Amino acid sequence: MKSKEIKKKYIEFFKKKGHKEIPSASLIPENDPSVLFTTAGMHPLVPYLLGQKHSLGDRLVNSQKCIRTGDIEEVGNSGHLTFFEMLGNWSLGDYWKEDAIKFSYEFFVDVLGMDREKLSFTCFKGDKNAEKDKLSYEVYKELGIKDDKIWFLGRKENWWGPVGEEGPCGPCSEIFYDIGKRKCSKDCDPSCSCGKYVEIGNNVFMEFNKKKDKFVELEQKNVDFGGGFERICMILQNKKNVFETDLFKEIVKEIKKNVKEKKEKEIRIIADHVRSLVFILSENVRPSNVEQGYVLRRLIRRVMRLGKLLKGNDDLILNVAKVVIKEYKDFKELKKSFILDYLKDEKEKFENTLERGLRYFEREIDNQGKVLDKKFVFNLFASYGFPIEMTKDLAKERKKSVNEDDFWKEYRKHQEISRKGASKKFKGGLGDESEEVIKYHTATHLLLLALREVLGDKVMQRGSNLTKERLRFDFSFDRKLTDEEKKEVEDTVNSYIKEKLEVKCEEMDLEKAKKKTKGMFEHKYSDKVKVFSVGKSVEICGGPHVNNTKELGKFRIKKEQSISAGVRRIKGVLES
Ligand code: ALA
Repeated sequence: MKSKEIKKKYIEFFKKKGHKEIPSASLIPENDPSVLFTTAGMHPLVPYLLGQKHSLGDRLVNSQKCIRTGDIEEVGNSGHLTFFEMLGNWSLGDYWKEDAIKFSYEFFVDVLGMDREKLSFTCFKGDKNAEKDKLSYEVYKELGIKDDKIWFLGRKENWWGPVGEEGPCGPCSEIFYDIGKRKCSKDCDPSCSCGKYVEIGNNVFMEFNKKKDKFVELEQKNVDFGGGFERICMILQNKKNVFETDLFKEIVKEIKKNVKEKKEKEIRIIADHVRSLVFILSENVRPSNVEQGYVLRRLIRRVMRLGKLLKGNDDLILNVAKVVIKEYKDFKELKKSFILDYLKDEKEKFENTLERGLRYFEREIDNQGKVLDKKFVFNLFASYGFPIEMTKDLAKERKKSVNEDDFWKEYRKHQEISRKGASKKFKGGLGDESEEVIKYHTATHLLLLALREVLGDKVMQRGSNLTKERLRFDFSFDRKLTDEEKKEVEDTVNSYIKEKLEVKCEEMDLEKAKKKTKGMFEHKYSDKVKVFSVGKSVEICGGPHVNNTKELGKFRIKKEQSISAGVRRIKGVLES
């Protein structure tokens, strides 16, 4: 069965059961700074799971695009993907375990025709917070499932959520498909990662709202079902892994066309990552060293590195991205020129240093001990733009390792030096940070502040690119700026420059910083972050910056244009 048909059948089945279809939400969670990406279909529905009324009623269904990077190391080995679609259905205080389990069963067995003998089911075995889930067990028995196909497992397997630190959660019942491999040991069960049991769906029975240190019973009990679309396709198409399904066919074909060495695992990683990065770019996220932008940068740079490993041609990443966009043409948010434009920018930024960095790595690696020297790792980052995760990959290939903590210590130390201006040579992993670029860096903070003052708080940063000659700044706004507005923005920036504001930097815990900056950008990979303040502008940022705005000269907007729906771009210069 084709993937498109599977999705259609899912939505139709649940519509027949009284559910209303809702669209896939954005990959970037709204109003939830505690997580970077939407990781499950329930995520955008949290307010409704907590009791708010949904305008479409209390039975909902959809297919939600999701990103999870927690298992990124597993990609290529098994069914793990960083981007995937989750088939979801919800009962908002309506049906409970009995109907939920029966609906899932009917869908998999009667609608899709899966062999019921190959299905296994798990139920929560109970612990101090919640009781054993006898009701789910009874429903399975009623469906005629034999005891050897029902497993009671603990909190690790059969408790779901919350997504961040707080929110709806509860015991769950998972559905597995046995692909027919031998048991890897006599204890092999659905919780085993050997690959015999593939998880295809999960009914979460949301009874609780987790608060900081306690579980509060929800007044409205909900069901949250999530099914792994790619894995379901894999089973129905009789394939051994998701990359052999029709969802990946053209993507893998394009990769193979663009590389000389056909290494299966690397090809799969590239296929997975390019899907993710295309979808992340479509959300107006730009490669950077912070939060979603950093995930995006890592994905892009990893693909480029693997491309080199496979002796791929220079345009591998762009060619594969084009195929992804074509394959997912139903997703109207995938604007081709926009995505390719930004991808090309990042590619060009890294291309040059990637090659030189790899040569540097090769020259040095044999002189390194089992754990790579922190200065060496830091150099790869600062001078060649290798994300730490990439150096870890490289080290692993040589049976060596990297101490991440040491790296971050080194990273912070260098930022400190740079900020004090003792070394203007610090490069922040992005190539040259010349004095001009540092000025533009600070000017960008002032520009964002000015834009928000003139146009309102809905202006958010969408991207930024600096050279010695200019700044380029992308932001969310839905129309052309008038000449008066442009002038006002320029004047505002220049007034801050004239005020000779001191640029202050403070290091603090991420949590505190998030509050201070009202959720404007955090540093995902570190608990301690730097917060730069310039007058009223407060942003989490790695720096470096000038010490005082008086160093900036005069700011002028050269161009203001639209680059996609709802996103504008300003090119600006500093004149002396
Ligand atoms: N939210 C549930 C999951 O991710 C369905 O497994």
